[in-house]
Order: sequence, then structure tokens, then C-alpha cells
Amino acid sequence: MIRRNRILRTSPAIRAMVAETILTPSDFIAPLFITEGENVREEIASMPGYYRHSLDNTIKEARELWSMGIKSVLLFIKCADELKDNKGTEAVNPDGLMQRAIKGIKQAIPEMVVMTDVALDPYSSYGHDGIVKDQEIVNDVTVEVLARMSVSHAQAGADIVAPSDMMDGRILAIRQALEANNFDKVGIMAYSAKYASCFYGPFRDALDSAPGFGDKKTYQMDYANSREAIKETLMDVEEGADIVMVKPALAYLDIMRMIKDRVTVPVSAYHVSGEYAMVKAAAKMGWLNEEKAVLEILTSIKRAGADLIATYFAKDAVKLLQS
Ligand code: PBG
Repeated sequence: MIRRNRILRTSPAIRAMVAETILTPSDFIAPLFITEGENVREEIASMPGYYRHSLDNTIKEARELWSMGIKSVLLFIKCADELKDNKGTEAVNPDGLMQRAIKGIKQAIPEMVVMTDVALDPYSSYGHDGIVKDQEIVNDVTVEVLARMSVSHAQAGADIVAPSDMMDGRILAIRQALEANNFDKVGIMAYSAKYASCFYGPFRDALDSAPGFGDKKTYQMDYANSREAIKETLMDVEEGADIVMVKPALAYLDIMRMIKDRVTVPVSAYHVSGEYAMVKAAAKMGWLNEEKAVLEILTSIKRAGADLIATYFAKDAVKLLQS
């Protein structure tokens, strides 16, 4: 034998030397679920170990994340039922929970990169990501609201808005609206390749945002397709996206790799709620070692091309990396 592949696997030291993919805290974006109230900390039933926090506790959580080296949070709010409508009224309320949360976090930790979810579903009486008319999700009217919503988040101090709705043309409309309002330092992280996935189930429990009728297949992508992901992503880059995203992550690593090979902007992955729940459930049954699974999964996502990973395991992963 003249080639012995096992030589480079001999010891932990040599394995560390030749490891190609190293996770670090600044890879992670921590999603946060925010609810009204004071000192509220509600565990999400289908996401054991993950919580909806009131704003005061959210700020504590954000401080802890920052102290651990995590640079970014992605904000989601749980909107009260009585504030939901079919117009996105609460989504653009300058005193809404989202807008107050952005202000509160930026005030407490000015350096933290605050990203915000831009989509109507948490605010929609129909649980859809857009304005509904005759059982249809109307594209262009929705895009106008998303642009106003983005400006409202920017006014509150958001660093990056993250449209997760999959309407056509929204990135350009948002960029133009930000420019028109002099927010030339506010970026856009586009959920570019977002699939209609069963893995969002626990998230919809967390925000009480499940669609009231039908599904999201007329706007989110069909998981049978890959070339469509390239089309969507290249268009978002042309329209002004600073970061593009593939979502979910683990079942879509082929998409991640294709996108990474085709764009020059940073690519982010969303390791979604259902992916978190699967690991938690198997670990609870004693069928998987949670800590090992977390590091293997997150490393695989980065190896596939992700520059950034939004994950509910962000804090756990940093602790594991440090130990
Ligand atoms: C809202 C939104 C969803 C997620 C992020 N933003 C749900 C959906 O599209 O139905 C899912 C995140 C997760 O499952 O962790 N547009």
C-alpha cells in the first residue's frame, strides 16, 4: 500500500489539524419568540427546552447570547388574536410588540445584529403570509404591506429585515422602500429557497400561526424541485438581497450546496423547528445522543455551504463547542 487514509485519523490532534469545517459562535443566528407580558417564560410544547419570552426576559436572553459570542438574533412575535386581521395592521404598528422588541434589544445591546421576520402570518386572521382574497393569497398587495413593515422595523432600529413570505418581487420592493426612507444601512436577508415543509409545524404552535385554510403551496416551493431554488435565489440577489437563505436545512443540503456554488453573497440556512423537535424527541426516548447529534447536524449544514445557521440549538451548540 502506498496510500493509507487512516494516517490522518490517528489522533484527536491530527484530526483537528485536518478538519475542514469548524463551527464558531458567530455562525449562529438565534431565533427568539416574543410574547406580551412581564416575566413570562412559556415552554413551547412541541419544542422542549425552547421558550416564548416576554420582552424583559427576551432582553436577558439576548444579553446571554451576546456574552456567549452569538452576534445575531432573529425576532418573531406572538400576536394577540384580537389584533389579527387581513391587512397586516399590527405588523406596521410603530408601538407593536415587534417594534418595541427591536428598540428594547438595540437599547440593551447596541452591537447585536437584530434581524426581524417579515411576513404576515403571525398577524393574519387567516394564518397566511399574505393578504387573502377569495381564498387566494394576493401577491402585489401583500408586497406593499411587506415593504411598509420592513420600513417600520428599520424605524425601530432593525439591522436586517428577513422576508420569509415567498411573494414575488418583495426583495426589490423592500429595498426601494428602505432607500426611499433613507435606511441605506439596513440589510435584507431573503428567505430565497423556502420550501412548503411539514417541518415548520412546531413553529406554528409557538406563534399560533398555522394556516386557517389550505396550505402554503401556492407561495412556498415544492420540495420536488431544485432548479427553482436557483431561480428564486438569483432573482433575490438581483433584487438586492444581502444574504440569501435555504430553509429547512437538513433535508435540503443538496439545495444549499447548489446555491453556494452559484452566488457570491453569504448563504444562510434555517435549521427549523421540526428539525429541532426531531432531535429532542429521539434524545428523550434515549435513541440518539442529543449533544453529538447537534454538533454533527450543524457541522453538516456548514459543510454543505452555509455561512450562517439560524438554529434553536445556537446556545447549546456554543456550550458544546466550549466544553
Ligand atoms: C413565517 C415563518 C415560518 C417560519 C419562519 N418564518 C413558518 C411558515 O412559513 O409557515 C418557520 C421556522 C421554523 O419552523 O422554525 N413566514
